[in-house]
Order: sequence, then C-alpha cells, then structure tokens
Amino acid sequence: MIGIFDSGFGGLTVMKEYLKRFPEYDYIYLGDQANAPYGNHSQDHVNKLVVQNVEFLAKKGCKLIIIACNTASADALRHVQSIYKGKPAILGVLIPATEEALKATRFGNIGIIGTRGTIASGAYERELNKLAPEFYKPTDKRANKTVRIVTQACPLLVPLVEEGMTDSTPTNMILKKYLMPLKAAQVDTLILGCTHYPLLQKHIQRTMGKQCKLVSSSQASVDAIGSYFKRHPSLEKSLSKKGTRTYLTSDDPKRFSDLGGRFLGQKIQGEKVEF
Ligand code: DGL
Repeated sequence: MIGIFDSGFGGLTVMKEYLKRFPEYDYIYLGDQANAPYGNHSQDHVNKLVVQNVEFLAKKGCKLIIIACNTASADALRHVQSIYKGKPAILGVLIPATEEALKATRFGNIGIIGTRGTIASGAYERELNKLAPEFYKPTDKRANKTVRIVTQACPLLVPLVEEGMTDSTPTNMILKKYLMPLKAAQVDTLILGCTHYPLLQKHIQRTMGKQCKLVSSSQASVDAIGSYFKRHPSLEKSLSKKGTRTYLTSDDPKRFSDLGGRFLGQKIQGEKVEF
C-alpha cells in the first residue's frame, strides 16, 4: 500500500499524477483538513502533525509514504525519516522538484514560490545548495553557471484555489503582484513549491511568459518515483497491487469529497477518521 498525505487537498494533485502513471498500486490518501493550512503553522507544530500522519498511515500498512505537501516536506521530512529509518519508506516532494529545476534552468535564474512556511524554512535553497554546491561558488573552477535564487511567499493563493477562484480577476491581479519580482529578476525556471499551484499553472505560465519553465513539485515527485523503485526493488515488490483507492480526511467528509474531486479531476467519496 502507498500512503499519500497532505494538509488537505493539494496532495490530490500529486495523487492524480500517481494514479495516471502507476494505477496498479493500492493507495490511501489522507487529507489532514482539521489542521489545515500547514503553511501558516510553526515548523515545530508541522513536525508533530507529520509524525501523527506517518504513524497513522504506517499502522494502516503503508510501506511507502509520500508527503505530498511542500510545507510538510520542508523540514519535517528529515525529522520523520530519522524516526522511522526506512520502515516505512518516506519521501517528500521538494527534492525531486529541486533536481528537475537544476536540470531545466538555462541561465541559473531559479524562482521558488510557496506558502509562507515553505519559503521561510529556506528548504529549497538548502537542497539546491546540497545538490549543486559548485553553482554557489562562482570562483570555483568547476562552476559553469551561478544559480541565483529568488523566492516569494504567496499566502493568498491556497485559499483562492480552495474557494474555486482560479479563473477570477482578483486571483490574476494577486498573481501578477506576487510574480512581479520574479519576472523582474528574469527567472528562467520557476518551482511551483506548493501542491495547490498546479491548479493555477496556466495562469502562472501566462504571467511569467512562455520562455519561463515551470517545475511542478507534484509532477516532479511522480517523475522521480520510477527510478526510486529501480533502486529499491524489494520495497517495490512489497507494495500491494490491487488498484484500490481509499480517501480519508480528519475533518468534514462532504467538503473533502466536493473539493477533493476538483483537485483530483474525478469524483471521490471521503471518509472521516479520528487520530
Ligand atoms: N499543500 C501545501 C503545500 O504544498 C499548501 C497548503 C497548506 O498550507 O496547508 O505547501
């Protein structure tokens, strides 16, 4: 069984990619709506919530857990990985998006947008630094390009998406305001560092211009999993494959089913769970 969780709905954009590419596996999705949004909580609190979600999914028999939330992947991923030590295996969405952005960038001008929590954590910069330290030392002989990073917290985008206002004038105005500094910095690759943003992708692309490559953390996560399975064949073999899907929420199942269906692009029936 593969467990996927998020603070609420955003992780369903990750689940959508998994179902398209790997429909054969059994999935449990957990939306921790009762504690959403994670983006405005302190890191300590997010860490506690992530441990609680991992514990819950591990007890349900998940051998692989995907933290389908940038805010929850930012610092809490390493925290839970150090507790569970591979049993279950736990992956986030941030590292795949960082790897893809480094491959995609033409001039080394990388922009990152996300929740307040994700941006304040500095996690994307840390991963970029780890994956490509030579980019950070322009004097280093190995450096072939210097990465310049521009970050922008976009706290209004999650509620606008959840209110179904993706195609509205206010959302476009707010997007333009948020993206202005990134455009001014001539960002050539922009990481959509929040799992809600794929629902705004075409508007973000229009605002940034078609020469800017968008990297969705939801898409990057599933792009990376094929090679992860090749590196971990026994884990892959241990995952059950009957094609079942279970959708769980820690709050109102009706709202979860209504809104969740929009994120997933298909009808779902959510069930309420107590931790
Ligand atoms: N899904 C979260 C993320 O990717 C955003 C929603 C929240 O703040 O809880 O960061």
